[in-house]
Amino acid sequence: MERTEVLVIGAGAAGMMCAIEAGKRGRSVVVVEHNAAPGEKIRISGGGRCNFTNLGAGPGAFLSQNPRFCISALSRYTQADFIALVDRHRIAWHEKTLGQLFCDGSAKQIIAMLTGEMAAAGARLRLAVGAETIERNGEGFTVSTTAGPIACASVVVASGGKSIPKMGASGFGYDVARRFGLRVTETRPGLVPLTFEAGLLERLRPLAGISVDAVISCGRTRFAEAMLFTHRGLSGPAILQISSYWREGEAITVDLSPGTDVFEALRGIRAKAGRQAVSSVLADLLPKRLAQTACDLAGLREGARGTLGDCSDKVLRRIGAAANAWTVKPVGSEGYRTAEVTVGGVDTRDLDQKTMAARAVPGLYFVGEAVDVTGWLGGYNFQWAWSSGWAAGQAA
Ligand code: FDA
Repeated sequence: MERTEVLVIGAGAAGMMCAIEAGKRGRSVVVVEHNAAPGEKIRISGGGRCNFTNLGAGPGAFLSQNPRFCISALSRYTQADFIALVDRHRIAWHEKTLGQLFCDGSAKQIIAMLTGEMAAAGARLRLAVGAETIERNGEGFTVSTTAGPIACASVVVASGGKSIPKMGASGFGYDVARRFGLRVTETRPGLVPLTFEAGLLERLRPLAGISVDAVISCGRTRFAEAMLFTHRGLSGPAILQISSYWREGEAITVDLSPGTDVFEALRGIRAKAGRQAVSSVLADLLPKRLAQTACDLAGLREGARGTLGDCSDKVLRRIGAAANAWTVKPVGSEGYRTAEVTVGGVDTRDLDQKTMAARAVPGLYFVGEAVDVTGWLGGYNFQWAWSSGWAAGQAA
């Protein structure tokens, strides 16, 4: 039977980082990856340029039932550490917006950097080999794989979450956790477009393809970024961000004109130029096609629109609310098919925050997206993968 000290399951961001670090400590490391290539999600990330970290990565940008769990790993292997690695490999990068760092060239450079570092650290990468089951075996484990069993002292589960099943994502990590008695928090798609029911979609159809700067809130969480009307509902960065916080049945509130109190603005214009048509005044405050829809959403019928002077405060308030606080209940999300991440995962109460080891199962580790730590859009999820993989790599 093949033997190694550390077996890493999954050659994604977290697994490769863990393998590099464990290898550098002189541990013998094998990484099994059921895809034919490593780092497939890195390859497609950031539109092919990989948003590999965020200058502002800190615990406040992560969701978890225990928001403090990520602090240890994030502060021991920081965005500055990863940037230094990227710089050592002479990979050119730039800040796009909001602290988001992207490769100037291609995400493939990040994959080549990681596989190069793995090889230099002596970690062996076995592609097209899937892990099937893990059995405890005295002090260590026997992992059955599609290429036969592998005996090891430590197993690092770096198999990711459920998002994008057609790229090989599955609930493997959660099944392993449950099988060893660890708790798994509720999982759901995150960073995902939201969908509307047919009636509302019909009314919003003329807006499909329009992008606006908006402030979206759900409960006490709010994001100010771009939002896109789609043929199924809403997308764009602001919606992807809020989707990780949104639960089925909840409404979201959209401010389509951030920074302008539309009711006050309309009232002010009415006092000076009451003969102007409501729709043309609104078209100065909102993108044109949206102005029309704001009237629809405010429940103003075609004939009732008229001039500003015809509108009572009550009517202007309705238009203002439609523009500044459009409240809408999505029926669902586009699901794991397009979600960038899985929210939830292996319960952090059962993991050691310093090493990512299962508290009750010596030698078993969980890293990356498999864990109940989910970042915002913007390079935070890769930073969690690097930091948690690094932390496990110091211990496994
Ligand atoms: P990841 O999913 O990357 O790796 C897990 C690996 O395990 C996979 O290669 C899988 O095939 C393998 N595997 C699973 N089960 C196995 C088994 N039983 N046996 C063997 N192998 C197995 N984040 C970010 O910070 N910046 C960005 O720009 C983007 N962009 C982006 C775009 C898109 C389209 C998606 C879907 C996601 C992103 N993300 C992102 C999120 C980011 O990709 C994600 O958070 C990390 O890839 C998670 O890294 P992991 O290593 O934990 O899992």
